[in-house]
Amino acid sequence: MNLPKAAATNIVNVKDAAKNLVNVQVEIAPSILAANFASLGEEIRAVERGGAGLIHVDVMDGHFVPNITIGVPVVAALRKATALPLDVHLMIEEPERYVEAFAQAGADMISVHPEATYHLDRVLGMIRDAGASPGAVLNPATPVELVSDVMEKLDFVLVMSVNPGFGGQKFIPGALVKIRRLREERARYNRPFRIEVDGGVGPENVADLVRAGAEILVAGTSVFHAPDPAEAVRRLKQLAADAVAQKV
Ligand code: DX5
Ligand code: ZN
Repeated sequence: MNLPKAAATNIVNVKDAAKNLVNVQVEIAPSILAANFASLGEEIRAVERGGAGLIHVDVMDGHFVPNITIGVPVVAALRKATALPLDVHLMIEEPERYVEAFAQAGADMISVHPEATYHLDRVLGMIRDAGASPGAVLNPATPVELVSDVMEKLDFVLVMSVNPGFGGQKFIPGALVKIRRLREERARYNRPFRIEVDGGVGPENVADLVRAGAEILVAGTSVFHAPDPAEAVRRLKQLAADAVAQKV
């Protein structure tokens, strides 16, 4: 089509605006922390059937958080069990010591807490160099400013809506404010990072989270402790899609 330059630009702008409104697609990331570890393969297949977009893997070291969970070998085993992207959330001190091993084991996304390292910028670069998508995690008391200067290095920002360390905790509503802030910063600085939220996510808060700007919803207890995890994922996805539609 031969359009004058100005008209062609307008069409692109309208398309971009529509894309922002529809906000592409919200993905559900079941957290295996709440799954039955003795039958992890079956648990994963159930959430795949329900339409999970990625698998969230919580790695805890007993230092940065008061709990110990799983490590590199489990990520390697998960890699063989699913084609879904593996979203590895490192709640460990000195994550720079392990990011390459997690990437090699098959992690697609790796997020670190700024308080857990002296050199956040360097770790994010290491994650990228290792072939994974870098993310930073904001605890409930951690301000957005802590990642402001590394925004260009981030593929995603994970907002904690509980204090990290355990599944099954109560959602902290202040996370909604932080998600809105991040969305504003992203627009202001034109940075394309995605916004993820983690902790106490369930059918009761999905609509609020999506309206605030969350695009990846981590859900552990509300998925794996439900009678039918596949159906639980389907329901969260539907609620998210409804909230996206209402935004337009
Ligand atoms: C908490 C973890 C979360 C946790 C979420 O430290 O980062 O990913 O598994 O679990 P629920 O959804 O049960 O709050
Ligand atoms: Zn997590």
